[in-house]
Amino acid sequence: MTQKLADMRRDYTRDGLSEADAPLEPFALFQSWFADAVKTEQLPVEPNAMTLATVDGNGRPHCRVLLLKALDDRGFTFFTNYESAKGQHLAGSPFAAMTFFWPTLERQVRIEGRVEKVSAEESDAYFQVRPLGSRLGAWASPQSRVIDGRAELEALLADTEQRFLDTAPHCPPHWGGYRLLPERIEFWQGRASRLHDRLNYRLEAGVWKRERLAP
Ligand SMILES: Cc1cc2nc3c(=O)[nH]c(=O)nc-3n(C[C@H](O)[C@H](O)[C@H](O)COP(=O)(O)O)c2cc1C
Repeated sequence: MTQKLADMRRDYTRDGLSEADAPLEPFALFQSWFADAVKTEQLPVEPNAMTLATVDGNGRPHCRVLLLKALDDRGFTFFTNYESAKGQHLAGSPFAAMTFFWPTLERQVRIEGRVEKVSAEESDAYFQVRPLGSRLGAWASPQSRVIDGRAELEALLADTEQRFLDTAPHCPPHWGGYRLLPERIEFWQGRASRLHDRLNYRLEAGVWKRERLAP
């Protein structure tokens, strides 16, 4: 097993990232890379899937995969249960990091910054476009809590279905969006022999500074 893992390697030769091709602020570059990922990455990869890291009250990091659901010039929005483990971490330490990995393109983007809850109106607007099953699931599942077994979840769902038999489910108070307001965005393009391109954008007094990092 160890030997096989040690032998697993791929040389990255698809593309490069030069200062000449990179805009002075990072959002346009993210939009352009994201459009490439949507075009290029093959199913079952979800191009909007990313890893989100949060920190608990003991300073320990936790990460999990989530879906990016909105992007504007304020930041990067995802939706979840506010009472989940990640929701509790963010209540105690409102900072997070997210990483996108687009393997076909040999690209990674790392985003770090402060996190805020989106408005109740924004959460509700997104909640309303989710399929009915997902809306019921958001009401039924006490995300991150220990449950007795699958049967408990199914019983919770059955109760929720009864509750919303005659009315469409509205957005639960314990569910909604968070927006990560980026302070750093790093674009990584794999290159041959591990001499990758890394362009890092840092927000300094409201102005994006761009710098190249050693691979
Ligand atoms: C591809 C994929 C997409 C996911 N998208 C979400 C999402 O958008 N929101 C969410 O709350 N959990 C999502 N999850 C589940 C999370 O990874 C995680 O299990 C859940 O949010 C509980 O995390 P926590 O206990 O750290 O709060 C997704 C998992 C995968 C594998």
